[in-house]
Amino acid sequence: MSNNNYADIPSAALTGSMRDFRVPGGVDLLERTQGFFRWQDLRRQNGLWPFSRATEDGPKTVCLAQDDRGQKLRGVNFASQDYLSLASHPAIKATAIETIERCGVHSAGSPALVGNTSYSVALERKIAEFVGMEHVVLYPTGWAAGFGVVKGLVRSADHIVMDMLAHSCLQEGAHAATNNIHLFRHLDNDYCRNILEKIRAKDKDNGILVITEGLFSMDSDTPDLAALQDLCHEFKATLVVDVAHDLGCLGKEGRGHIGMQNMLGKIDVVMGSFSKTFASNGGFVACNSRAVQEYLRFYSAPATFSNALSPTQAATVLKAFDIVDSLEGRILRLELLANITSLRRELNEAGLDYYGDPSAIVCVKMGSEGLARLVSRQLSELGLVANLVEFPAVPKNAARIRMQVMANHSEQNIADAVQILKAAKAQAEHELERLGEPNRGREQRAA
Ligand SMILES: Cc1ncc(COP(=O)(O)O)c(C=O)c1O
Repeated sequence: MSNNNYADIPSAALTGSMRDFRVPGGVDLLERTQGFFRWQDLRRQNGLWPFSRATEDGPKTVCLAQDDRGQKLRGVNFASQDYLSLASHPAIKATAIETIERCGVHSAGSPALVGNTSYSVALERKIAEFVGMEHVVLYPTGWAAGFGVVKGLVRSADHIVMDMLAHSCLQEGAHAATNNIHLFRHLDNDYCRNILEKIRAKDKDNGILVITEGLFSMDSDTPDLAALQDLCHEFKATLVVDVAHDLGCLGKEGRGHIGMQNMLGKIDVVMGSFSKTFASNGGFVACNSRAVQEYLRFYSAPATFSNALSPTQAATVLKAFDIVDSLEGRILRLELLANITSLRRELNEAGLDYYGDPSAIVCVKMGSEGLARLVSRQLSELGLVANLVEFPAVPKNAARIRMQVMANHSEQNIADAVQILKAAKAQAEHELERLGEPNRGREQRAA
C-alpha cells in the first residue's frame, strides 16, 4: 500500500472525458492544449490518471512499473498484450540476437526502396500461407496497416461503411480518404445492408469499403463474417477485416475468427497487427490479387514512405509465426484458453461481470467513470496492473477494467488479480458513496 492520501477528490477529476478537449478553441495552437492538461493533471495529482505507465523489464506476468509521476507499483500484470507470451520466449529472443549480429538493428529504407530484408520477404510468404491468401504487404505498425489499407484503396468519391466501434486506425484512415462515411450499429449486418442498399440506390459507379474486426478489443465480440462477405458481394463492395486481436491466439489452429468461421482465404482483404500475439511492432495486409498488393506497395503511404520493419522485427515475427503454427503454438493457445476460462469463472464467483465471448480480452464491467477511476487507483495500490477503459473509447457509464490474459499467467496470478479487483471495487464504491457520486447528477442532467 502506498501512503497516498486523497482525502478530498475534486469532482472534476472524477467527471469529464477526453472528448471534452478533442476540438479545443482558440487561435494559438499550442496554448489551447492547456485545458486538457489542467484536467489531466488534476486527475494525475489525485492518482486518477492511470495512463502512460512504464514497465521496468517488459511485459511479464508480474511486473514492476512506474506511473507518469514516477511512482512505482509492483503487481500482477493483466495490462500487456502478449497473448501467447512470446515476447520473452527463449527462441524469439535468440532469433532477435542472431539477427542483430547479422544485420545490425535498422532497415534503413522504406519497403518501396531497399528497406526489405530476406526476413521480411520470407515473412510475407509465411503470413500469406498462414491466412490462406495469395499476397501480403507489410507495414511498420498495425495502426499503419489499418490506416494504410483504407487510405490506399478508397478515393473521395467512394464510400466507407464501417462498424461504429472499428479501431482508431480504421476510423482515421476513413476520414483521411473520404467524407462519405457511414457507421453501422455494432455487429449489425442488417443495419449494414440497409446502408448498402441506400448507397447503391444512388451510386452504382463508385467503390464501397466495408470495415469490421475479427474480435473487438473493448467488447470481445465478433461479427458474422460469412454473412458480411456475402453482403459485400451482393452490393459490389469490398470487405476489410482487422484481425489484430484474434489471429494467432484464438481457435485450434490459431486462425482466429476467420478460421473458426470457415472464412480462411474467402475475405476480400485481411489486415492484422503483430503486436498482440507475434511479439513485435508491425502489421500486414493480405489479399488475393497481385495487383492489389503492388498498388498498396506504392499508393498506401505507410508502406511506401515509412521505413520498413527492422530486420530484427521481421525475423522475430517470422519466428513467432513458426511457433504459432507448431504444436507448441497449439499448446500455448490451450494454456491461454484455460487461463481465460479460469479468469471468467473466478470473476463470476467474485460477483464481477464482464463483456463478451471468451478471448484474451476480458473487460470487467464497472459502470460510471468516477467509480472506474477510483477502482483503477485502488488496483495500483493493491498490486494489479490492468487498464482503465472509459468514454469515449466505450459508451458513457460503461467504463471497464480491461484484463488481457497471457498464456503464461499462473492460476495464482489469476486468483490474485480477481481478489484485488473485488477488493478495489468494494473500496471504490465505499469511497464514491463518501464523495456523493459526483458524476451521477451530471449524467442525469445530460440525459
Ligand atoms: C483492432 C486493432 N487494430 C489495429 C491496432 C493497431 O495495432 P498496433 O498497436 O500494432 O499498431 C490495434 C492496437 O491497439 C487494434 O486494437
